[in-house]
Amino acid sequence: MRIAISTGGGDAPGLNAVIRAVVLSAYHRGWKSYGIQRGYEGLLSFNGVVPLGPAEVRGITHLGGTILGTTNRGNPFRYISRDDQGEAIERDRSDDLVAAFQASGFDALVSIGGDGSLQISHDLWRKGLPVVCVPKTIDNDVSSTQRTFGFDTAVSTATEAIDKLHSTAESHDRVIVVELMGRYAGWIALYSGLSGSADVILLPEIPFDIEKVCGKIRSREEAGRHFSIVVAAEGARPKDGAIELLERRGVGTVDRLGGIASKVARAIEVHTGKETRTLVLGHLQRGGSPTTYDRLLALRFGAAAVRAIAEGAFGTMVGLNGQDITRIPLENVVGRAKFVPLDCDTIRTARDLGICLGD
Ligand code: F6P
Repeated sequence: MRIAISTGGGDAPGLNAVIRAVVLSAYHRGWKSYGIQRGYEGLLSFNGVVPLGPAEVRGITHLGGTILGTTNRGNPFRYISRDDQGEAIERDRSDDLVAAFQASGFDALVSIGGDGSLQISHDLWRKGLPVVCVPKTIDNDVSSTQRTFGFDTAVSTATEAIDKLHSTAESHDRVIVVELMGRYAGWIALYSGLSGSADVILLPEIPFDIEKVCGKIRSREEAGRHFSIVVAAEGARPKDGAIELLERRGVGTVDRLGGIASKVARAIEVHTGKETRTLVLGHLQRGGSPTTYDRLLALRFGAAAVRAIAEGAFGTMVGLNGQDITRIPLENVVGRAKFVPLDCDTIRTARDLGICLGD
């Protein structure tokens, strides 16, 4: 058996642990593993297939990033290249990818990625490519799995940042608005905001009323608490669109989000007169060494992906359900994000603690 491994989309702490688990699990079955570099670029635009054995994956479990490299512009179905004038042209190169995969003599692909990569894997599977997927994203918004690896590390990083903001906000009697990642789902903002004792948490799932946010800051002021910490997921939205939001068109197909913290901060200053500062934590949340939780989950996912290949369970994604690793058909995963349920215990806990969720 010859197994190809690809890491696609934004990186997440734990990718290298998955790669190590796949390579060692394959090795102990007498199989060979190969890494495709930079998403599918290593098959589509340059000769980027590298053999991976125990020596290549030694000592990488604790390393952030991916030894294979990644890209979030490598969709083979909507492949972007430049013409002679430098204009971007989009083409479907999925047949080229399948042909390159077969020419390399691969028997199976382990695709490690988030929602975009899962959709691509699903479409490649429908073209006959034998694929097993491993869910990855710090956003934790992939459906059919309770957790994606990378999330726990991102939450730890964000919580530590919020912890550190408390003392400076209090010393200066300021409001500090922290913008965290989370395009469509507010898992990182909710978990780290609650753990870091934020006063306000704004999630994409709950359109916020800026008056409610300011009301919380005013009531703290009246109670002698002259500082506040506001945590906003990058995808948080005002309920009536009263705050104009900055959205930039990313290179490729995905819109880049950004700017909610400065908009909210400006509105708070105008409405409350409080001096307000912002922090956009950005890609710090994607970097660094994975937590023990993420390492373990990533290793379990990697080993489970190889077991799925051994049993011919292609067109599936491995996932976490309670203590168990499960296999879910890709058609049940794609196109359904996992949002924070508004009645979940963590939301109820935040409300019970008096945290303002903007509604
Ligand atoms: O999907 C994960 C994520 O971290 C999102 O929260 C964020 O919007 C996006 O990646 C940013 O990705 P990049 O800056 O790599 O385009």
